[in-house]
Amino acid sequence: MQEEGLRKQEILKLLEKKLQNDYTYESGSILGSMCTEPLDFGKEIYNKFVSKNLGDPGLFLGTAKLEEELVKEIGELFGCKDIIGTFTTGGSEANLIAMRIAKKLRPDIKNPEVVLPISAHISFDKAADLLDIKVRKARLKPDFSLDLDHYESLINNNTCGVVGVAGTTSLGLIDPIEAIGEFTKNKDIFFHVDAAFGGFILPFLKRLNYNIPSWDFSVESVDSITADPHKMGLGLIPSGGYLVRDASILTKIGFQIPYLAGGNFKHFHIVGTRPGGTIIAFWAIIKSLGIKGFIKIIKKCMDNTGYLVKRISEISGVKLATIPVMNIVGITTENGESICKIDEELRNKNWMLGKFEDFNLIRVVIMPHVEKEHLSHFLNDLELILKKLRIS
Ligand SMILES: Cc1ncc(COP(=O)(O)O)c(C=O)c1O
Repeated sequence: MQEEGLRKQEILKLLEKKLQNDYTYESGSILGSMCTEPLDFGKEIYNKFVSKNLGDPGLFLGTAKLEEELVKEIGELFGCKDIIGTFTTGGSEANLIAMRIAKKLRPDIKNPEVVLPISAHISFDKAADLLDIKVRKARLKPDFSLDLDHYESLINNNTCGVVGVAGTTSLGLIDPIEAIGEFTKNKDIFFHVDAAFGGFILPFLKRLNYNIPSWDFSVESVDSITADPHKMGLGLIPSGGYLVRDASILTKIGFQIPYLAGGNFKHFHIVGTRPGGTIIAFWAIIKSLGIKGFIKIIKKCMDNTGYLVKRISEISGVKLATIPVMNIVGITTENGESICKIDEELRNKNWMLGKFEDFNLIRVVIMPHVEKEHLSHFLNDLELILKKLRIS
């Protein structure tokens, strides 16, 4: 560290240089991220309330109350107002909390297991590792939908939890949540739905008359849901969401920190100090957009998804991995050849997609920052690459 502080202008200049290699959302290069530019109003609000610390909610009673209010509002959107919940650093922390609850609620199981689809996010593997839980992964069918028979066959006396995904990481597909719920009926098994990505799209797609199967608290057996503001909620990073139907779980297995300045309280969190600013910002974003505002943004994403789907179907050499349900498009080769070379060539041209080698697909996430013009440039480059690699 230098002895004397630098002037603001100097620091800004230094930062500009040091960060010049970062990809930006507005360039259109970022085609494979589930994050996007937060809503401007959200950024403004966040800046105003950046010092609020919900790690010590007794000091920030207003912020804590606002978090509760926001949870109820989201609960209403997800089919049950009468829930509790909290905001996290993201979907990974929310899923870790869910896995911990599943394990803690079944102290009678010596070697706890959780059943999930093979398409579930890597955060479940991380959580299983940290919590010493065995994950049992159910296969997918050739169309990437969940093989329910295999899923059911993995449930046994050691199963403390099951997971369904509403908006898979690779393809944005929705697992058959109602059918999974049937497997846990009258059993002491915790049912968690990971809607980290889908949570802030699915209610609005339904309003846009898309045929969306039940995936939320309207399914009686669903015990908890992950839904992330910092993905399709246009919230600030970091902000994940974790919602639980049964409020008594917090009393049963919440952590306590007796020495806090604001007084003791029970919480689910892995972290201590926790941003209140991102939560206040998300509350403001919801107030500012309303349902109509979200619908408008999501309609644009879906229109662009439709454009990409149509164009990919017209390009020889590649095809859709499956018909998209939401704004995620999986692209694979027509002849089954590895997608890796195409991905590499696209990266050389600064198109940053997600590569899922296990499924041999590259993923485009059509977030609000993705414009039709970006997709058109991307498709032109894709066609050139396919010609160069003699795949078309
Ligand atoms: C379905 C799903 N769940 C959880 C996560 C993890 O979210 P985060 O990166 O916010 O921890 C992701 C991230 O892509 C995801 O797609």
